[in-house]
Formats: sequence, C-alpha cells, structure tokens
Amino acid sequence: MVASTVISNGLDGIVVAETEISEVDGDKGRLIIRGKDAEELAFASTFEETCLVLWCGPDALERGKDIDHLRKCFGLARLEAYELLKGKPFILTQKNPMDAIRTATSFLTGDTRAGIDEFAKLTAAVAVFAANWLRLKEGLPIVTPDPELSHSADFLRMLRGENAPAIETQGLDTYLTTVSDHGMNASTFTARVVASTDSDNVSCVVAAIGALKGPLHGGAPGPVLEMLDAIGTAGDAEKWLTKELDAGKRIMGMGHRIYKVRDPRAAIFERAIKRLEDAGVPARRLALARAVEKKAEELLARRHPEKPLKANVEFYTAVLLDALAIPKDLFTSVFAVGRVGGWCAHIAEQRRKGRLIRPASRYCGPRPPN
Ligand code: COA
Repeated sequence: MVASTVISNGLDGIVVAETEISEVDGDKGRLIIRGKDAEELAFASTFEETCLVLWCGPDALERGKDIDHLRKCFGLARLEAYELLKGKPFILTQKNPMDAIRTATSFLTGDTRAGIDEFAKLTAAVAVFAANWLRLKEGLPIVTPDPELSHSADFLRMLRGENAPAIETQGLDTYLTTVSDHGMNASTFTARVVASTDSDNVSCVVAAIGALKGPLHGGAPGPVLEMLDAIGTAGDAEKWLTKELDAGKRIMGMGHRIYKVRDPRAAIFERAIKRLEDAGVPARRLALARAVEKKAEELLARRHPEKPLKANVEFYTAVLLDALAIPKDLFTSVFAVGRVGGWCAHIAEQRRKGRLIRPASRYCGPRPPN
C-alpha cells in the first residue's frame, strides 16, 4: 500500500447530509447553486433574488414568489438591526470585526422558524453590523439604513455615507451571490450541526460566524491583499513567495480541500473586476494579482506535485472588494454578509430533516488497566 502524505481529519469526503442547495465539483471546477451555474446566477441576480432562490427553491422567481415582499423584509430588517445598534452601540465595539459581528448578532431575537421573514432579519442584520463596525471604528456616526434601496446598494451606502454608483452595487451583488453557498464547507456544517439540535436560528448563525472567521476558511482575503502589497511588483513575486514557502508558511488564497483545479469563483470575480474596469472603476491590484497567482501556482506545483494548489475564491475576492473600496479589515465580514444567505437555506433544510447530527470519534487515548 502506498502511504498517503495527506493526514485526514477523519471527515474528508464523508457525506454528512443530502442537500438540494449547492454542489461543488472539485475535479471539473464547477459550482452549482440551486440548479444553476454559479456564474449564471452571479451576473443575473441581485442578492435578494439569490436569497429567494436559496430559501424557496430553484424556480422561486418563476413561480412568482414575492421578491417585492422579500425586498421589503430586507429593508425593514436593516432598520430593526440599526435600532438595536442605536440603543446598544457597545455590542459592536470589539476590535476584530468578526468578533463584533458575532457579538452583535447574538443580541438578535432568535426562534426556530424557517420562513423568509425570519431569514431576512438575520441576513439583513449581518450587513448592518458589518458596515457600521467600520463607521464606529473610524469614529463616524452610524448610518440609518434606507429600506427603499437594494441590500447591496444600502450596504455600500452605509459603509461610505453616500450612494454608490450602480455598477459598484452590481459588483457587490455578483460577489455576495457567488459566495452565498458552497456545499458542506466548515461554517455551513457548523450551522447545520447547531440547527440539528433544534437550537434557534440566531445560535446557528453565531456559531457559523465563528467558523468562518478562521484564516483557513474565510479569513484569507485580507492577508492576500497584504501579500500583494508586500510583494509590490510582479518581478519580486518569486523571491517573496520562495522566502515564505521556505519558512514553512502557506500562501494565502492558494489551495483548496475540494478543488483540484482553479476555483471557478476566481474566474467569476475576474469577470466582475473587468466589468468594473470597463465602466471606469479601476482595480489597482489586478495585474499584480495575476502575476503573483501565476508564480505561486508554479512554485507550489514544484513543491507539491502530489496536490494541485491553485487560486481559490479568496485570491480575487481581495482584488474585487478592494476595487469596491471596501477596506481589507472588512473582507471576511463581507464574506459573512453573503454566506449568511446560504447558512439560512441549510438551517431550513436541516430542520426539515429533523435529525440530530451526532458523528462518532475513535478513542485513541489511554485506558484503565481493566
Ligand atoms: N501554501 C503553501 N502550502 C500549501 C498551501 C498553501 N496555500 N495549501 C496547502 N499547502 C500544502 C500543505 O502545507 C501540505 O504540505 P505538507 O504535506 O508538506 O504539510 C500540502 O500542501 C497538502 O495540503 P493539505 O493539508 O491537503 O491542504 P488542505 O486541504 O488541508 O488545505 C486549505 C486546504 C485551503 C486550508 C489550504 O490550501 C490553505 O491553507 N490555503 C491557504 C489559506 C486559504 O487560502 N484559505 C481559503 C480557503 S477558500
């Protein structure tokens, strides 16, 4: 038998749920969300439409499910989250934005209903907390949401204190839709485990935020931007990357547990960045990012011929969110603003199954003498 160099955590490849929400094909590099290619959804849907499809099924829009009602729910829920924040600004003052959003989310009132009104409340609140964390950090007043705006438009408005151009709102819709769901990733599994105990929806989302925060999951795009800045110019990429690898460090934004090819979301973001550039919104770091990706892929292939390590979603997240003038401190939080839509869909699906998730472990510690 050939010894494996990969140490399994015992859960690799184990099917822990059947789902109709999304599928990740790691060999072909394909992400399907509710029966559609992620790329198709990403350029055709607002975030609210994506949530409707995630929460109500693939043909929710065609069946005339009320998107206007959902938009209203989102608008009202943003206002509710703002009122909560206005009364208790201390809930959002932790230094790390993911800690702050996790804390603020835990102040929401939770129950176990799985309706779109309930999910809109949770989803909208995460955006209000993320945008206003930055306002508070910068010593600026928090911004009252505008319920008439779309979720993405209002998020950018709250963040900036002024309306964003439509092309940038579209860019954010593409981003949020693309990251809204991705199979049985760590944070989604976390949300489902909590839902399976019949705990409330707020507890599911709070736990999932904690899982997403880690640098091996959602915490990588900030460090990607720092890496690009540290490298500075394409010509310095090889030297910088080699030094990091020699020191045993991982290159952020590269590698994926499931994808053996380039993460398809990287291409979606490149296309979104191109659309911004065509409309006159510069993506300052795109050329450098492409050069660094090429070099990193080459160096990693030499060191790990046994495992393809290519760009993952986080690599071009950094470039796209930077082009949208979102500061790097907030990258993981904006990931949460989108992924919470997927968490809610999985919470609902798990509740429908109604069965406790109770994995087993193999004890390998000492035993009493007899
Ligand atoms: N840079 C350098 N080496 C890497 C690497 C990276 N980005 N990703 C994996 N490797 C190396 C590992 O160190 C390991 O080497 P070793 O066998 O000599 O110890 C080998 O490749 C196999 O890695 P493996 O343990 O199978 O990877 P994984 O499936 O556990 O990791 C990630 C997947 C995403 C956690 C990993 O690729 C990573 O840490 N990437 C950087 C962080 C990141 O971008 N996260 C966002 C994910 S969307």
